[in-house]
Amino acid sequence: MRTINPNKLPIFDSHAHYDDEAFSNDLDSLIGDIKQKGVVGIINCGVNYESSKKSILLSEKHSIFYSAVGVHPSDIYEGKNLDVTVMSHLVSHPKVVAIGEIGLDYHWNTFPREVQIKWFEDQIKFAKENSLPVIVHDREAHNDTLEILKELHPIGVVHCFSGSAEMAKEVLKLGMYIGVGGVVTFKNARKMVEVIKMLPLDRLLLETDAPYLSPEPFRGKRCSSDLIYFTASKIAEIKGITIEDVLNASLSNTKTLFGIEV
Ligand code: NI
Repeated sequence: MRTINPNKLPIFDSHAHYDDEAFSNDLDSLIGDIKQKGVVGIINCGVNYESSKKSILLSEKHSIFYSAVGVHPSDIYEGKNLDVTVMSHLVSHPKVVAIGEIGLDYHWNTFPREVQIKWFEDQIKFAKENSLPVIVHDREAHNDTLEILKELHPIGVVHCFSGSAEMAKEVLKLGMYIGVGGVVTFKNARKMVEVIKMLPLDRLLLETDAPYLSPEPFRGKRCSSDLIYFTASKIAEIKGITIEDVLNASLSNTKTLFGIEV
């Protein structure tokens, strides 16, 4: 097994869920460990109001954390509308850097499509009113996602991008970024390899979605932000550049998009 990040290149994870119960037993020691492996920043994404609050608490406790607050399409509060009072309170915190994760999930379809679309649109509008970028979840909902992004034109990232190279082109035209996680290292990642080939480095954001989607050779195990090293390594191989180029580009893009100084 290769050593993880032997040269301590700076790793920024633009999308993770450290408030997940998978981390409840050893979070403090894990944070110490991944900082040793070069992790300099993490955006923890809320999936509902409660986890958004937990995300903010994490960012108060550990300096490497920043927060995104929002309601995931599988966590919509049935029958209710977006609570702008709660959201306004959350975004007033200085470490909140984005609205997310928000979007459409037609794989699980936990809520009807029209309900998901309403919440997605309302949260994009809220992000724009507050001059914040969005972190977009799109699972098996490429056409509707693209249509809404074209119509409302937020700044932000399509996280864990799973569309085609054609869709990536459309996302880039909108000025948005493409989030790439461990999936690109999987054997069946042919479509994602095509996306990486055409993706300009100045639009790439690295991410984990921890505790999910560990890159190879850790597929199936709990993911943590240091494993981005393997994702960056695969991207470097596809593009014929160095891991350092990939990590530096992603770090610089993360700073630009989210207005973060690390
Ligand atoms: Ni996520």
